[in-house]
Order: sequence, then C-alpha cells, then structure tokens
Amino acid sequence: MLRQAYQRISQVSRGNSLSLSLNRNMASSSRRDLTDRVAIVTASTDGIGLAIAKRLANEGAKVMISSRKEKNVQRALEELHGTGLPKDRVKGVVCHVGSQTDREKLIDATLTNFGGVDILVSNAATNPHMGSVLDCSEEAWDKIFEINVKAAFLLTKELVPHLSKRKGSNVVYVSSIAGFQPFAVLGAYSVSKTALLGLTKVVAQELGPENIRVNCVAPGIIRTRFSSAITENQAINDKMMEMVPLGRVGEPEEIAGLVSFLVSDDASYVTGETYVAAGGQPSRL
Ligand SMILES: NC(=O)c1ccc[n+]([C@@H]2O[C@H](COP(=O)([O-])OP(=O)(O)OC[C@H]3O[C@@H](n4cnc5c(N)ncnc54)[C@H](OP(=O)(O)O)[C@@H]3O)[C@@H](O)[C@H]2O)c1
Repeated sequence: MLRQAYQRISQVSRGNSLSLSLNRNMASSSRRDLTDRVAIVTASTDGIGLAIAKRLANEGAKVMISSRKEKNVQRALEELHGTGLPKDRVKGVVCHVGSQTDREKLIDATLTNFGGVDILVSNAATNPHMGSVLDCSEEAWDKIFEINVKAAFLLTKELVPHLSKRKGSNVVYVSSIAGFQPFAVLGAYSVSKTALLGLTKVVAQELGPENIRVNCVAPGIIRTRFSSAITENQAINDKMMEMVPLGRVGEPEEIAGLVSFLVSDDASYVTGETYVAAGGQPSRL
C-alpha cells in the first residue's frame, strides 16, 4: 500500500518537473497580447524600466517611456525603435517624477499620442544615502520618500481619472526585496520600499470598486547600473549571492516578465499583491 502510494507520488512529481521545465521554456518564448493597451512606464530609459517598456511594447502595447534626461530618452527610443518596434507605438518624454509639471507633461503626451492610459508602471526610485539609517540627513530622507513613495502616490492619483475610463486598467509599483528584509546600508531606501507594499494594499482597496487593479513587484538583486556597486565587485557579489538560492543575480528581463503578467488579463483576479522575484532570497513565508 505504502509502496503504491510512493510510486504514485514519484510519477506525479516526475510529471510535474517535466511540465515545469516545459512551462519554463514556454514562458521565455511566449508573449501576451497587450494590443491596444497604453502603458506609462516611469524611469524607463535604462535597467528594469527599459526592459519593462520593451517587453510591453513587444506584446503590442503602446508605451510612453520617460526619465529625467532628454539624451537618455532619445537613446532609449533609438534602442527600442532599433529592435523593430514601430515609432508610433513607442514614444518618449522627459519626466522627473518629483516634478508636478513633468508628470502633467507625461500624462498629456500620453493622452495626445495614444488617446488614453490603461497601465501605470511606477518604477522610479532614488537612494542618495548609504550607511547607517540614523546617519541619514533629513534632506536625504525627504528626497528618498519624495521620489520613491510620494511621486508614486501622486502619479497614481493624477492618472485615476484616465484609468477609470478603460477596462482592465491597472497599476504596478516597483518595490524591492529590501522592502521585506532591509539592507543594512540602505535603511531609509528600504523603509521607502516597505511603504510601497502598504500603498499597494490601500490603493487596491480603494480602486477595487472601479475595477482598477493595483499590484507591486519586489525585485531581488538585478543587474543594472543601480546595483553595479554589488554586481561589479566580485567579493561583495559573492557574499550577497550566499543569500540567493538560485545563486545568481537576476536580469531586468526577468522582472519585465513578471510585470507583463501583472498588467495583463492573465492577472485579472489579482490585486493588492506584491510579487517577489529575488531568486529565492528570503522575504516572507
Ligand atoms: N537593480 C536592482 O537590483 C533593484 C533591486 C530591487 C529594486 N529595484 C528597483 O527597480 C527600479 C529601477 O531600478 P534600476 O536598477 O533599473 O535602475 P537603473 O538601471 O539605475 O535605471 C534608473 C532609471 O531611472 C531613471 N531615473 C532616475 N531618477 C529618476 C527620477 N527622479 N524620475 C524619473 N526617472 C528617473 C534613470 O534615467 P535618468 O537618469 O535619465 O533620469 C534611469 O532610466 C527602482 O525602483 C529600484 O529601486 C532595483
């Protein structure tokens, strides 16, 4: 009896690992259909934001990219158009998320070019202070919260009148694994990322009745300019990788894949959630 049960479990688990590996291959090659969706991705001229913009555009969305520097916006547009994405599907504008004027320009440019907005991916963040949290100046603390939390809140608030006109609209905030397990030298930044987990919950509750979903992603260590102090120093990188069961740094495209799921109708019953993509790095039970 026990032996039969064991054989059955072995068969099922062999089947599961086969289908898992098939699914993994499918996930890397399959594309969702975001045709006719319009997405704003902030801080999207480099790193994770650029990968998200590329992924959503490749899935058919019209995407408005943005960041603080005109030259970066132009470079990113050239890169995206250079991959074959049509110029009328990917456009860009300068937007420092901390500036109300810039946020208005971002929204206006999106409405003018694409006629509405379905998706906000709020990805911008800053970290002007490294070291003990109690050594963080008031100025640095305010800057961190202004860009990482307040700008995300304000942009959401400014976009709700437009998101509520569309079906299946949604917001994704980019938090961090540090929002669950603070990094010792990134104390204030970590607290700001924890705040986004709360913002996700509270805004999801309020916008649920309007059928606007609100979710969050918490990346682990991802290979970008932002994390280069870790990834380009072999000793620090090796030490950090001891915490990561997959034993490697993540790539921006691996966060883009998760965001693509959350903004799509595949996640139509998911709201108020934070998805961790951190190679197994401890976050929560
Ligand atoms: N990389 C990681 O390991 C990691 C881990 C967890 C979470 N995250 C989060 O992922 C997000 C993206 O980080 P990343 O690693 O992709 O960074 P990144 O590669 O350094 O790219 C940063 C992007 O943000 C833009 N930017 C910076 N400040 C901005 C502002 N105030 N307003 C608008 N755009 C701004 C930059 O362009 P301009 O200079 O032209 O403005 C650039 O396009 C952040 O929220 C970060 O906290 C990253």
